[in-house]
Amino acid sequence: MSNDTPKSLVIITGASRGIGKAIALAIADACRTNSSDESVKKSLPLPLHVVLIARSAAALEDTARLVRQSNDKGGITTSCHEVDLCDLDAIPDKMQQIFGVLKLSDFEHCWLFNNAGSVDPLGATSSLTSGDDLSSSMRRLRTAVDLNITSVMWLTSMFTRTFGSSSDTELQHSPSIRIVNISSLCAIEPFPTMSVYCAGKAARDMFHMVLAKEMYDDNETGAQKIERSLFKVLNYAPGACDTVMTDVLADCQTLDAGLHDYYTSSKKENKLITPRVSAKKLVDVLMKDELVSGSHLDYWDM
Ligand SMILES: NC(=O)c1ccc[n+]([C@@H]2O[C@H](COP(=O)([O-])OP(=O)(O)OC[C@H]3O[C@@H](n4cnc5c(N)ncnc54)[C@H](OP(=O)(O)O)[C@@H]3O)[C@@H](O)[C@H]2O)c1
Repeated sequence: MSNDTPKSLVIITGASRGIGKAIALAIADACRTNSSDESVKKSLPLPLHVVLIARSAAALEDTARLVRQSNDKGGITTSCHEVDLCDLDAIPDKMQQIFGVLKLSDFEHCWLFNNAGSVDPLGATSSLTSGDDLSSSMRRLRTAVDLNITSVMWLTSMFTRTFGSSSDTELQHSPSIRIVNISSLCAIEPFPTMSVYCAGKAARDMFHMVLAKEMYDDNETGAQKIERSLFKVLNYAPGACDTVMTDVLADCQTLDAGLHDYYTSSKKENKLITPRVSAKKLVDVLMKDELVSGSHLDYWDM
């Protein structure tokens, strides 16, 4: 392997802004500031290739530029991919294009961040089918499920099949895999008027918990078996962060009154966590390899 060939691969969905962008920058920053730190070298050695996915091409390019800039010694390359994760029919081809240009056998460390998501539709559960146009309410619901659940399942399965088991792929070795689902308190606690979002987050958590269990199943029923240290999955709840998503919550007239007050006052008083701070906590845990596979870890737990 030449010195310039990436050893590490990071894929982040929803990397055009908010928490996804902050994760990309926190990883670049950790690689730069701790380039002599053994834990960083071991967890995610340079050269690193970062794959950034979202719909907004210009915003993705901005994330990519900042990632490359933050590591002035080089060693990080980026690629940006405009993908609408609601468009399920297009995802297989788009992902083949992304994976097709990567030389998979070179990577020793592969991390996937399932970060993209949306809070729509908001409002009491009975209101999900209100209004004259029932077809449009169905489309909204389906779009939410496609983005927040189905696309995540599909991408995670493809990533796991590609990198998770050397017997199933062209890989000669088993790389170290980390899959992070960006979860929420909403995955484990019900919040009125956020039923679709809460259900989506709960489904994602369970999907990733099952994946973690499959990989270590000792009773021969597991789909794959892999050394414990090589394959880890984490559900990370980033805390209430100051992003476009919480702007939407603060502006939403159909949100539960208590939640609406919380988001409007927290925004006004600058009490929300900055995505940068939450992303750094997550990246620290990953770099130090302090995660328990299959667990749900909240920002406030650390
Ligand atoms: N902010 C919080 O307080 C909070 C708390 C708990 C959990 N979370 C979770 O954290 C994750 C990131 O949230 P955020 O607050 O950073 O939200 P955000 O600012 O709204 O960012 C969402 C990201 O997802 C991308 N995205 C949205 N729809 C997409 C689609 N159809 N196809 C591809 N990409 C799409 C957006 O990019 P494009 O628009 O360019 O496509 C953007 O990069 C979400 O999973 C959210 O549920 C957030």
